[in-house]
Amino acid sequence: MFQQLSRLSPDAILGLMAKYRADPSTSKVDLGVGVFRDLSGNTPVLACVRRAEQAVLAAQTTKSYVAAAGREEFNSAVEEMVLGGAHVARRDRRTRTVQAPGGCGALRVGAELIRAAAPAVSVHVSDPTWGNHIPLLGSSGLRLDRYPYYDAAKHELRFDAMLERLDRAAEGDVVLIHGCCHNPTGADLDPAQWQALAQLLTRRRLIPFLDIAYQGFAVDLDQDAAGVRLVAEQVPEALIAVSFSKNLGLYRERVGALIIIGENESRADAMLSHVLQIARGIYSMPPDHGAAIATHIFANPALKEEWLRELAAMRTRIDDMRELLATELRRTTGGADFDFIRKQRGMFSLLGVSTQVVERLRDKHHIYMLSDSRMNLAGVMPHNAGYVAEAVAAERLA
Ligand SMILES: Cc1ncc(COP(=O)(O)O)c(C=O)c1O
Repeated sequence: MFQQLSRLSPDAILGLMAKYRADPSTSKVDLGVGVFRDLSGNTPVLACVRRAEQAVLAAQTTKSYVAAAGREEFNSAVEEMVLGGAHVARRDRRTRTVQAPGGCGALRVGAELIRAAAPAVSVHVSDPTWGNHIPLLGSSGLRLDRYPYYDAAKHELRFDAMLERLDRAAEGDVVLIHGCCHNPTGADLDPAQWQALAQLLTRRRLIPFLDIAYQGFAVDLDQDAAGVRLVAEQVPEALIAVSFSKNLGLYRERVGALIIIGENESRADAMLSHVLQIARGIYSMPPDHGAAIATHIFANPALKEEWLRELAAMRTRIDDMRELLATELRRTTGGADFDFIRKQRGMFSLLGVSTQVVERLRDKHHIYMLSDSRMNLAGVMPHNAGYVAEAVAAERLA
């Protein structure tokens, strides 16, 4: 049977990680894989996570199943963190939340829910978007379409073109929207743009599927969720995929959630029943360990304070490297072409160079980034920023 299957090429990000590991150069720089790194190049276990993990293990009396929806206390804390305490959809009891195996699990379950409800709709994703959005949403069988989002040569949003394209989407279509720290561009909507988008979604009866995987990486937990909250206030129905991989550093523990908003209480209950059936059919129950840690942190004021401090430190480290790299690029190129790096947000920006330049940076200078020139700013260090900037200046026009 399996003789039929030919070997596939590796996933672009995982393939790049393998190449980086195999490179013996001592000056190599990893701007590829999307994980936070501290000044030593480590992706640390947060101190609040260590403490919470010890408490969770000490208190644990069973490994018995929890539920297809995961932990109730986790789900309500996540809902409050993403939507805020006084959100109208929560007040009207139109929200339901289930724990999921990371943001990816939430995206996939959300895609299956859309497919169960309306198999013929298209899901519109930003051009560009995070590479994994395509298989996560597409493998449920949904048709994908793209809306213009970012001009990589001008380093700016294509907001008018985005609205113009979405205005032509079919009623009932789904629009995938990054909540903050857009991956891969680092370019987010401003408050007026969020407002215009929310109005268009409402007027054209489009369903937002909001993906928030970097809450706290731009400004703080509340401000980073402002766009998501605004959209969710105005539309009758929405899905929100949440991830704690980055902001709690719980990557491998697979901690996320899917928030669903129905047009009324009974619709929300019906949607939830489908979500639970879908989850049962894919992974049955989400892993518990990471969610137990997150729940413990959310419920314990001292640990939550500590988390917010650690989150702020991660954010500052990324912002510092944005500043440093932009300054170094000014020095090496003698111009302001890369100043946009300074004002974008989150871990990623597109350097805005061709695939050939990306290949030369890798093959000649051992600097690794994705082929679309997505760089992870957390891979920049005070000791390598100058080296990266020299290499970019040498190769970008050559
Ligand atoms: C835009 C976006 N959405 C969702 C995720 C989900 O990540 P995870 O499944 O690790 O929680 C990521 C992770 O890189 C992401 O960049």
